[in-house]
Amino acid sequence: MPIEVTTAVAMQALGASIAKLLVAGDVVILDGPLGAGKTTFAQGLAQELGVQGAVTSPTFVMARIHKSIGAGVSLVHVDAYRLAETSELSDLDLDATTNAVFLIEWGLQYAKNFAESWLEVHIARSAVAAEDTDAASGLRTVEIIAVGDRWENLDLSGIAL
Ligand SMILES: Nc1ncnc2c1ncn2[C@@H]1O[C@H](COP(=O)(O)OP(=O)(O)OP(=O)(O)O)[C@@H](O)[C@H]1O
Ligand SMILES: [Mg+2]
Repeated sequence: MPIEVTTAVAMQALGASIAKLLVAGDVVILDGPLGAGKTTFAQGLAQELGVQGAVTSPTFVMARIHKSIGAGVSLVHVDAYRLAETSELSDLDLDATTNAVFLIEWGLQYAKNFAESWLEVHIARSAVAAEDTDAASGLRTVEIIAVGDRWENLDLSGIAL
């Protein structure tokens, strides 16, 4: 069931509600065009997890580790956009980071070699919004796809906005 997300604040709230489902080792893949709202989603997720540091598009770094403010899980935030096609996420040795949730922008093609289960968050802009020249405004449609045994009992009915 696609979820309609009309504002950046609502996208952060969606990220926060997904964060509540996550435990260490979980992998979330964010998919969607430039400016879709992937990092905005990540910000809400990070805030709910309670991790340090501002979440931004990691343009010049491939991955950033946000440690927990308390004793909770850390967040490993990856931008796979510039990862060469031949390289693999596993080359970054990210899974050596224990007690962390992994959030990977542009990570779809790498997911199956990186993890056995993951959540895909697909963010699309509506046709109307895409015609809008202001990239920051407009409706987003989000589809969440759960892959693998980890999510067998996943119930997303509570997260609709
Ligand atoms: N419904 C919405 N959901 C998410 N973001 C929105 C929404 N409406 C407006 N925005 C704005 O759109 C922009 C989304 O930018 P963001 O950096 O999150 O995208 P991104 O997918 O990470 O892009 P990039 O691929 O360049 O990293 C922000 O400026 C945000 O405030
Ligand atoms: Mg981004």
